[in-house]
Amino acid sequence: SVLEMEVEQINKGNYEHYMQKEIHEQPESLKTTMRGRLIRGGSCKAKTVLLGGLKDHLKTIRRSRRIVFIGCGTSYNAALAARPILEELSGVPVTMEIASDLLDRQGPIYREDTAVFVSQSGETADTLLALEYALENGALCVGITNTVGSAIARHTHCGIHINAGCEIGVASTKAYTSQIVVMAMLALAIGGDTISNQARREAVIDGLFDLPNNVREVLKLDQEMKDLAKLLVAEQSLLVFGRGYNYATALEGALKVKEVALMHSEGILAGEMKHGPLALVDENLPIVVIATRDACFSKQQSVIQQLHARKGRLIVMCSKGDANAVCLGGSCRIIEVPQVEDCLQPVVNIIPLQLLAYHLTVLRGFNVDQPRNLAKSVTTQ
Ligand code: G6P
Repeated sequence: SVLEMEVEQINKGNYEHYMQKEIHEQPESLKTTMRGRLIRGGSCKAKTVLLGGLKDHLKTIRRSRRIVFIGCGTSYNAALAARPILEELSGVPVTMEIASDLLDRQGPIYREDTAVFVSQSGETADTLLALEYALENGALCVGITNTVGSAIARHTHCGIHINAGCEIGVASTKAYTSQIVVMAMLALAIGGDTISNQARREAVIDGLFDLPNNVREVLKLDQEMKDLAKLLVAEQSLLVFGRGYNYATALEGALKVKEVALMHSEGILAGEMKHGPLALVDENLPIVVIATRDACFSKQQSVIQQLHARKGRLIVMCSKGDANAVCLGGSCRIIEVPQVEDCLQPVVNIIPLQLLAYHLTVLRGFNVDQPRNLAKSVTTQ
């Protein structure tokens, strides 16, 4: 009806699509996610994290034999992005499970495990069934959802709300970045204050405080990503190479492109390049390489050189000022992003890829907010 259409227009504000609005909302949604949870006191007060929903369970989580992340789609990718910092700060082994695969295998879950269920909607059937399975097996079950009162929020022992605000676009954007931030805060909370990790903790907390500004900065790449989308609009396929903290960025960037732009795209762990993907490389296939500064940087430099040697058509995402350092010995298109604390870099790096997927979709004339065959919440198996 006309009224419904008008209400929709009001909800979208100045944006044409919900996905576009939700991408640009991220400086604010990230702030809401952190509000009241990150404390950076005066000179004598330590920097700390307060997660009300977890405080009675932190000791148990710290003592668990393993932490298992369980989710589907974008929520799984968010957990993958947070895994390294959780392992680093907690010292507890962290394993990853796609909910349907855990159920298919009836994989081992023990009483000594902490199972963390990540879900924007809190209603995904596979994730909910995996939760029932983990409860039966006696694990401590933690929920990370964006929907207060959802099935997963109700059935877990404790949890953290994502607080990203309502997400309408089928392809998850702002919930993804807020999920990563929630899990980084979880890592800080589980890690606790030890002298050995104090400097790192403070750097991560400072990095979280600065994140909304850095996200605002990276959103300025909108026009550049639109130009890139024009260049790629007729392609059949796009590869995305990442590793370390940004393996998840590669998977999630590729997922956005295939979900909404209906273009084949694959996220590839750069360390596996020689074990198959290299065979695909020629002068035509576009390849995004994520090579922002972190401990894996020199390895990514050599990946770029090897792709150049195969005449690869490269689009390199690098930290500001690094264009020359990443593009030795060949030509490539550059996406420069602000550098942040390494474990938070995935929050910044996904944004140009969200923008790229968005513009590709509009240019290709597809439905941005309701992609063909997909649903926001998959409540059947
Ligand atoms: C569907 C949605 C995705 C989402 C996935 C998991 O596939 O289209 O955007 O990532 O479900 O949903 P959840 O609500 O559990 O995060």
